[in-house]
Amino acid sequence: NKKIGILTSGGDSCGMNAAVRSITRVSLQKGCVPFAIYEGYQGLVDGGEKIKELRWDDVRGYTLSNIRYLAKGGTLIGTARCKEFRTREGRLKACYNLIKNGIDALVVIGGDGSLTGADTFRAEWTGLVDELVSTGKLTKEESAHLRNDLAIVGLVGSIDNDMSSTDITIGAVTSLHRICESVDSLTSTAQSHQRAFVVEVMGRHCGWLALMAAIAVGADCCFLPERPPPFNQEKYGNNWEQEMCDIVAKNRSFGNRKSLVIVCEGAIDKDLNPIKPDQVKKALEKIGLDTRVTTLGHVQRGGSTCAFDRYLATVQGVEAVEAVLRSNRDVPAPMIGMFQNKIVSIPLMEAVKLTQEVATSIAKKDFAHAMQLRDPGFTS
Ligand code: F6P
Repeated sequence: NKKIGILTSGGDSCGMNAAVRSITRVSLQKGCVPFAIYEGYQGLVDGGEKIKELRWDDVRGYTLSNIRYLAKGGTLIGTARCKEFRTREGRLKACYNLIKNGIDALVVIGGDGSLTGADTFRAEWTGLVDELVSTGKLTKEESAHLRNDLAIVGLVGSIDNDMSSTDITIGAVTSLHRICESVDSLTSTAQSHQRAFVVEVMGRHCGWLALMAAIAVGADCCFLPERPPPFNQEKYGNNWEQEMCDIVAKNRSFGNRKSLVIVCEGAIDKDLNPIKPDQVKKALEKIGLDTRVTTLGHVQRGGSTCAFDRYLATVQGVEAVEAVLRSNRDVPAPMIGMFQNKIVSIPLMEAVKLTQEVATSIAKKDFAHAMQLRDPGFTS
């Protein structure tokens, strides 16, 4: 009977609640005991009230707002970007709190940083337990059956869809919907005034949200980190402003009353200089367009969860519990992903390594490789 700690970590994303619900219920069905760890790794470090056993009804409804647990955005068990857990001292406290609660498995729902933290924790686990015993904080008896291994399973919760080896991450599709709704609202005012809008979207160093939004709303142009402009380098050299203005002007000549440029927050040019919305605005003003900048910000991370993210998080939650039950100390910790519409379980650190390779490729200006390392939908 495994005791499974569940935590959400890093930036929240829609679908995290559905994952917590699914892991809780499948754990109970399989005879395991689920625990919520509140406020991400901070809860693990702090222990006490921040670690609580979960029962079937705890994830049934969200009584105050009458919104179903499954649909509610954000994460109801809280999240944090916890500095303390990055230190050995913090992880020692976390180990103590897990042993005291008898927890021998951890399902972490978060981005690549959070999942790497979980893997480090597992690698150190036996050493941490031994240190707690040798310093008299734990007795040999209470730690004996937990000393050998802590099972770790990762689920990728991130609006950025920036993890390699999985086609999609929990929360990315909801955020894409939110961006599209917001841009649709901008479109009506843009058309009325014949204006241009430059819209900055999140994604950090991953252009998935920007690219998918640009396709979905029919933007004139879109700037990403993985494929810097100009797209026609033969004609434009390094002058991406000119290339963009030519595209926008051409589209205007077809009768468009508005122009729309989407900029990922991590967008860069071919020399790796950032492309900022204000630069884009200045360039568009030079061709006579009345231009406004809109930074969507955290609106794109909030709201209620779309059907796909509820489904994705639920089925991945089922697989996460199966993976805990299959776990064995000689096998690397798995990450649950989705590949070609199938739920898959892949070695967590292999996926993290490939994800980090994207940044290295961009730094070396090997943009083609960076695109290949993203998911197949992105590349095509
Ligand atoms: O990783 C998710 C994300 O929303 C990024 O797209 C964005 O750059 C970042 O988190 C914002 O972080 P914070 O919420 O800490 O400001």
